[in-house]
Amino acid sequence: MGIIETHDLRFVYGKGTPFEKVALDGVSISIEQGDFIGVIGHTGSGKSTLVQLLNGLLRPASGQILLNGSDIWAKPKKIRNVRFEVGLVFQYPEYQLFEETVYKDIAFGPLNKGIKNKDELDRIIRTAAEFAGLKESLLEKSPFDLSGGEKRRAAIAGVIAMQPKVLILDEPTAGLDPRGRDRILDRIRAYREKTGSTVLLVSHSMEDIARVADRVLVMNHGRVEMFDVTKNIFRHGERLSEIGLRVPQVTQVFLELKHLGADVRTDVYTMDFAKGVALDFLSRHDATTEQPDRPPAENSSAGETAEGGEAQ
Ligand SMILES: Nc1ncnc2c1ncn2[C@@H]1O[C@H](COP(=O)(O)OP(=O)(O)OP(=O)(O)O)[C@@H](O)[C@H]1O
Ligand SMILES: [Mg+2]
Repeated sequence: MGIIETHDLRFVYGKGTPFEKVALDGVSISIEQGDFIGVIGHTGSGKSTLVQLLNGLLRPASGQILLNGSDIWAKPKKIRNVRFEVGLVFQYPEYQLFEETVYKDIAFGPLNKGIKNKDELDRIIRTAAEFAGLKESLLEKSPFDLSGGEKRRAAIAGVIAMQPKVLILDEPTAGLDPRGRDRILDRIRAYREKTGSTVLLVSHSMEDIARVADRVLVMNHGRVEMFDVTKNIFRHGERLSEIGLRVPQVTQVFLELKHLGADVRTDVYTMDFAKGVALDFLSRHDATTEQPDRPPAENSSAGETAEGGEAQ
């Protein structure tokens, strides 16, 4: 049994109006405890709708969402508890921030979870702010006076402060500079390792997904297109581009090489792994061009080198 399962999930915006839009249809997935899932898909494919259903912010038109085996809508009055267990950082942080100060905003979750001790609360708030890279001096400011990147960090801190068992982040690195992006991704990975939490990361950046996800969910027009371990997903470069996605640049290079007739593998999606594969290819290429009489070293140890270089 997965920590989260969905069965035949369907969601419709503006039902019964001229603007009716089926945003999700037939979505059945199972996510295991401790998984790090990357969620990708073209704009409007239903990613944000799906994650809002998973934390009980939206209610499905039909189908079920199970959290630890229980239907989250079995007792609608208890739906708030689901939002503490499944923490969601919104795609647009301004929808998430509403208190007078950033400090109070971050305090909201832990307070509602029942943390009353002032010192403990203060420690949780400051640790969460530090996690998100939010300067202490911003804690007393109004969330509305923050820059876009700072708002995003405040929203991340607010969710981390609840210590959710399932952490969902919808485009958390949008609007951050490359250093800020790397830092947040590293922190999310560390949070998962430390707490054993399950993480879902929605991102338009294939590079980010390739770096951190164990498994990738690909959405296409409100349906699940693929859901598999990361390296299997990036083998389908052509299909991904057909549905409006781009594989990581490094994968693209190997797909092009294959297209040009080179005997290289194409399930390459991190730079470390790419180096091993490229060196393997070059050593085989040298062997065949320098000593034309000898057959190419097909069964050399190069394959193992490539596997060994794979980054997770
Ligand atoms: N509040 C809403 N009212 C009506 N339609 C909506 C609403 N929110 C989303 N939609 C529609 O539902 C579909 C799925 O939207 P969703 O926001 O889930 O996509 P997404 O994959 O998150 O896109 P993006 O990558 O742009 O964030 C889209 O066709 C969108 O236009
Ligand atoms: Mg979205």
